[in-house]
Amino acid sequence: MKKINLAIFASGTGSNAKNIIAHFENNNAVQVVTVISNKEDAPIVGWCQQNLIPVQIFSNDEVNNGQILIDFCKNLTVDFVVLAGYLRKIPGDFIRYFDEKIINIHPSLLPKFGGKGMYGMNVHLAVKTACESQTGITIHFVNDNFDEGRYIAQFFCKLESSDSVEVIQEKIHTLEQNYFPIVIENVINSILL
Ligand code: GAR
Repeated sequence: MKKINLAIFASGTGSNAKNIIAHFENNNAVQVVTVISNKEDAPIVGWCQQNLIPVQIFSNDEVNNGQILIDFCKNLTVDFVVLAGYLRKIPGDFIRYFDEKIINIHPSLLPKFGGKGMYGMNVHLAVKTACESQTGITIHFVNDNFDEGRYIAQFFCKLESSDSVEVIQEKIHTLEQNYFPIVIENVINSILL
């Protein structure tokens, strides 16, 4: 049986990308066929090169061009796309080509602390500044607006008023590591059924 081919978009450290790659490493049904990045100096790019994971770098101009991304993914017969710390907007034609097949992770309980400019530490700082008693992660499909696509799953964690931004980041990291790959796998399985 043909495996489901996954493309992962990542712009940064890549802890989520690495975790997803490890999760599907010996999977019978799903394989990661490429990592795509818009930043050639992103740590995830070097890690992929060292670990012989196929990685493709596109310039910011290129990732603004949906047709370039579509052609590249078509060539690899990509079935599903995961945004794992990818910080650029996804072009509309690419979203339509992969309708409800692009999954993003956002490090807050959307709709809180989402939208343009809300990524990584900016989100944790906003959560801390708002004195939230809880935060979490949202895994959702991607549509034309930042962080507004249909939700797939949310996971919560409690916050103490003494939690620093770094502690909040660590709590989110733990949720991401525990849940993101398995949610991706469940979404793919539900479509295959
Ligand atoms: C993750 O916390 C992810 O949720 C967040 O960026 C971090 C990337 O870490 N994504 C966003 O903020 C998207 N708006 P990583 O590079 O170690 O996976």
